Amino acid sequence: MLSRIMSATFLGVDSYVIEVEVDTTNGLPIFNIVGLPDAAISESKERVRAAIKNSGYEVFPRRITVNLSPAGVRKEGSAFDLPIAIGMLSSFGFFNENSDTEFKKRLESYLVIGELSLSGDVKRTKGVINAALCAKEHGYLGVLVPYENFSEASIVDEVEIVGVKNLTEAVEFLTFGKKICCQNQPELSHAEPSYPDFSDVKGQSFAKRGMEIAAAGGHNIFMMGSPGSGKSMLAKRLPGIMPRLNQREIIETTKIYSSAGLLDEELPIIRSRPFRSPHHSASDIALVGGGKSPKPGEISLAHNGVLFLDEVGEFSRRVLETLRQPLEDGKINISKANYKVDFPSEFILVLASNPCKCGYLFEMHSSKRCTCTQSEVKNYVKKISGPILDRVDLYVEMRRVPQEELLKYGKGDSSSAIKDRVEAARELQNRRYDGMYTNSNIPQKYIMEYCKLDAESGELLKSAGENLGLSARAFDKILRVARTIADLEGSIDIKSTHIMEAISFRKK
Ligand SMILES: Nc1ncnc2c1ncn2[C@@H]1O[C@H](COP(=O)(O)OP(=O)(O)OP(=O)(O)O)[C@@H](O)[C@H]1O
Ligand SMILES: [Mg+2]
Repeated sequence: MLSRIMSATFLGVDSYVIEVEVDTTNGLPIFNIVGLPDAAISESKERVRAAIKNSGYEVFPRRITVNLSPAGVRKEGSAFDLPIAIGMLSSFGFFNENSDTEFKKRLESYLVIGELSLSGDVKRTKGVINAALCAKEHGYLGVLVPYENFSEASIVDEVEIVGVKNLTEAVEFLTFGKKICCQNQPELSHAEPSYPDFSDVKGQSFAKRGMEIAAAGGHNIFMMGSPGSGKSMLAKRLPGIMPRLNQREIIETTKIYSSAGLLDEELPIIRSRPFRSPHHSASDIALVGGGKSPKPGEISLAHNGVLFLDEVGEFSRRVLETLRQPLEDGKINISKANYKVDFPSEFILVLASNPCKCGYLFEMHSSKRCTCTQSEVKNYVKKISGPILDRVDLYVEMRRVPQEELLKYGKGDSSSAIKDRVEAARELQNRRYDGMYTNSNIPQKYIMEYCKLDAESGELLKSAGENLGLSARAFDKILRVARTIADLEGSIDIKSTHIMEAISFRKK
């Protein structure tokens, strides 16, 4: 007898509905799974058989064929265990006595996913939020998920999420509509995201201002400075002054972490802006994603947050080159022989570096002095200029804050005060660009429209261009940054003071 269960799988962050057909016939007891399964799916034969038996049902000695369709979509993982087990029970005729229309309707209107243990328990699996979104998108009533993944999936509205702890509960839900776990919904934690605070950073007002502008307009920033000047401190505090994630961003970010199997069991919904800081020895696959099966890399795990490349001069040129496409398009396209996926990757890039080999080039007046030769300094700077500086809108130089200032009591603006200003500036941009862009990524063709200059500021920019030998690209960057500075001030027009401040963030 043939039975059909609907399930889902994901590739990258996109999900697909998969039909699980199970056919059992008399004949030699063989168990076959067809339709592009990977090794983990093929192993599910053993798990499913044991789970059915240990849940108190009988496994009849029949010839069993499972077909996962469409056959062209790559499938992997163990999340098909549960639909295969239910399909087998249905095909054995287990549900016949109860084969009322209700049961049939439920089988047709719910997607089913979950890994089974040998005892019949349904275990946590990857990509559950993706499956819930898939159910919503394709008009299903709901989705049966492992109970442990219930909180993760429940952020998706307009679909019913049914959490089941074991095969028996799944069977009872499908036959009688009996929901067990779902009735006492786990408390969804709405704990405020917490980040280290900006008020901990003493001095460095120029760099702090740079961070505020970066957060407000989504600009990439480069901090060049002495060891111990607070570069890492500032970078870690940037997500805390960026606007709160909205619902769309929460779902997008959670989806990426879910497909990578990186969600926290306690707090499975990502509500805080990611901060990723890969080491300079990271491979390009670790950074951009890919691998045998498509996995998001650091640039996608940083989506909607901050990607911090510390000691950027130590990263290989090839790895830095791979950042070009995501920085321009906000996504990375990975094409391999057996798959082709897009991962979103829109982040603020924060780069940090010492100014020279010994690190103390800027410390003219302190006890620490630079010990590098002129040619060493030249070589060091050569390594980080060009392709790296090209990618940033804001450049700041930092010296160490003197001891006596570090010991002074008194704090600067807190993260929440800065965040209020940033959110106000983002609100202006949302209205101006209909929520589609920030100042840093408005398409080039609109720059002149949105970054209009009055006669005075136009004149100022022109003479700065002549004196500093600015390229067309540098002009664009100054205009974008000036637009953000004007937005932070709530000013409709870009004034000459805004242009002047934007120019101060160029490398001299
Ligand atoms: N401006 C500052 N205000 C308060 N503390 C600071 C400041 N700058 C540095 N510190 C102290 O020095 C420590 C080192 O700072 P941090 O790691 O941010 O420096 P860095 O510029 O990243 O140095 P490196 O180049 O060695 O990575 C901090 O943990 C903090 O205790
Ligand atoms: Mg550091």
